[in-house]
Amino acid sequence: MHLNDAKLRALVSSTRRAYDENAAVYVRATGTLDLFPGLDHELDRFFDALPGSSVLDLGCGAGRDAEYLIGRGAAVVAADLSAELLRHTRSRCAVDGAVLCDLLALPLAAGVFDGVWACASLVHLPSGAHPRVFSEIHRVLAPGGVTAISLKEGNGEGWARSARMPSPRWFSLRRPEAVVDELAAAGFVSARVLPSGRGSWFVVEARKGLPAEPFVGVGPR
Ligand SMILES: C[S@@+](CC[C@H](N)C(=O)[O-])C[C@H]1O[C@@H](n2cnc3c(N)ncnc32)[C@H](O)[C@@H]1O
Repeated sequence: MHLNDAKLRALVSSTRRAYDENAAVYVRATGTLDLFPGLDHELDRFFDALPGSSVLDLGCGAGRDAEYLIGRGAAVVAADLSAELLRHTRSRCAVDGAVLCDLLALPLAAGVFDGVWACASLVHLPSGAHPRVFSEIHRVLAPGGVTAISLKEGNGEGWARSARMPSPRWFSLRRPEAVVDELAAAGFVSARVLPSGRGSWFVVEARKGLPAEPFVGVGPR
């Protein structure tokens, strides 16, 4: 779904309020890896695919994944819309930076990260805005850099309440094939859809090419 910029800004403000006001509840519900079967393997797979150690955790939430990646040897910059969640992340692990931001326009230099980890953060933007975020991720990655993006599979989008948080949030369900097409259009040279241990969630891993490298295809699921 496409929303105009004013509606998109209003949606992002609601998301920020929801996470800031419910940060403590959200940290309790999502703050440890044992609550997400298989996520440690997804993080290992991502880390092992990186050409270097600098990682942007985009939509870091409770800091669970930043902490794990730092434990693996990554230098992690945590980024989120919620000042409360960023504060929590900074207090739990030694991030290299904490950036208050909107996924739609990252206040970060181009070409600096070996990896961008975006676990369940794009789900809160309308699907029509996802290509803009994919372009931003492509921009901040160094050549050869890798992104892993987790999204929920399905059709449809809109406001919903979940068991984890009383405030309504926007949820976009996506078809993995469409996400791969959009990543290719954003300039990534390869993209593959990988399973996750979490119900209907899937991960798309994509790589930014070296100069003049053509799109080399889509891996099997
Ligand atoms: C479902 S939580 C996932 C958090 C964490 N990555 C995890 O897997 O537990 C979504 C996160 O994305 C952040 N977020 C949502 N919309 C965002 C936006 N437009 N820009 C930046 N962060 C956003 C939220 O503040 C929240 O921390």
